[in-house]
Amino acid sequence: VSDMLVDSFGRLHTYLRISLTERCNLRCQYCMPAEGVELTPSPQLLSLNEIVRLGNLFVSSGVDKIRLTGGEPTIRKDIEEICLQLSNLKGLKTLAMTTNGISLARKLPKLKECGLSLVNISLDTLVPAKFEFITRRKGHSKVMESIDAAIDLGYNPVKVNCVVMRGFNDDEICDFVELTREKPINVRFIEFMPFDGNVWKVKKLVSYYEMLDRVGKRFTGLQRIGDHPTETAKNFRIDGHQGTVSFITSMTKHFCAGCNRLRLLADGNFKVCLFGPSEEPLEELFFLQQLIEVSLRDPLRHGVNDDELKEIIGAAVKRKKAAHAGMFDIAKTPNRPMIHIGG
Ligand code: GTP
Ligand code: 5AD
Ligand code: SF4
Repeated sequence: VSDMLVDSFGRLHTYLRISLTERCNLRCQYCMPAEGVELTPSPQLLSLNEIVRLGNLFVSSGVDKIRLTGGEPTIRKDIEEICLQLSNLKGLKTLAMTTNGISLARKLPKLKECGLSLVNISLDTLVPAKFEFITRRKGHSKVMESIDAAIDLGYNPVKVNCVVMRGFNDDEICDFVELTREKPINVRFIEFMPFDGNVWKVKKLVSYYEMLDRVGKRFTGLQRIGDHPTETAKNFRIDGHQGTVSFITSMTKHFCAGCNRLRLLADGNFKVCLFGPSEEPLEELFFLQQLIEVSLRDPLRHGVNDDELKEIIGAAVKRKKAAHAGMFDIAKTPNRPMIHIGG
């Protein structure tokens, strides 16, 4: 791994998340405000060629996993070509995608042929009417079909991401666990995180401990299984279940010490931490200044060469902090809405 990807704490950043679009066919409450978000004009978004040039630069420096996010990555018209070209980069082992599953059942066979090797599908409720409330759109049955389509196509594990919010879907945790009895899926309960426009409140957060307690009381055979030091999830199995259950504990038990993730946003900004500010932070949070996003698109369009780009990237990685600032400071940091970051 090239020095460009090593931060000052020795963490190797071999996992790049690329957000392909700021658009989405859902309007999830935890991801964006009801009125939607301002969209970057298309000429200012990275083109297929720019994505592949930057992808190549990262992969040739040691990145071996790329995850495509959004917005909703499958609504990008050139998604197949993006998958094809990225999956062919020499040194890339995994090309993954996080998607809302609305149009995945239809698109997945072709995406698989284009080299997409893993999918994580977001699903926050098993109740169709509640799906409409949380996502402000219809489509519950389509997501359920996409989960089955991914299993049928041989994707393994198919991860199902469930953002748990008190009063919204926390009454369904055990129903989601029940799904893993017959389906070979990995259900992942995610602590609700603050982003611009998502009205985060600590009382809406259901902590890892509370979730674990509820699941453990109902499913007595719950056992912790190993997780990789760079993983976001804490994994568990249950006797007799085909699938597994995990918790993503970003707020109450962060996993920053093992962080190997970098982010390229649809507008070409480079984000070294999910909770790095998008613009000048408040004075009291001045220590976060160093984490402000940097544009890779602008130097790219001014014709810089790969070595110059690598210097810009390496310098930003070196400024990365040991860990995020804690949930209350994060909630005060000017960051983007989640739909611009992609998780
Ligand atoms: P795998 O590559 O399958 O392990 O997936 P992932 O968990 O890295 O990515 P996914 O897009 O499925 O995200 C699941 C949840 O983890 C989302 O809520 C993300 O915002 C969160 N997440 C992903 N990466 C990070 C990270 O670096 N830091 C924090 N705090 N949360 C993250
Ligand atoms: N908190 C936690 N997870 C979130 N996601 C989107 N917004 C939030 C939030 N505020 C999840 C999505 C998707 C993944 C990329 O991030 O459900 O699965
Ligand atoms: Fe990495 Fe930042 Fe996420 Fe921590 S909060 S795991 S440092 S991206």
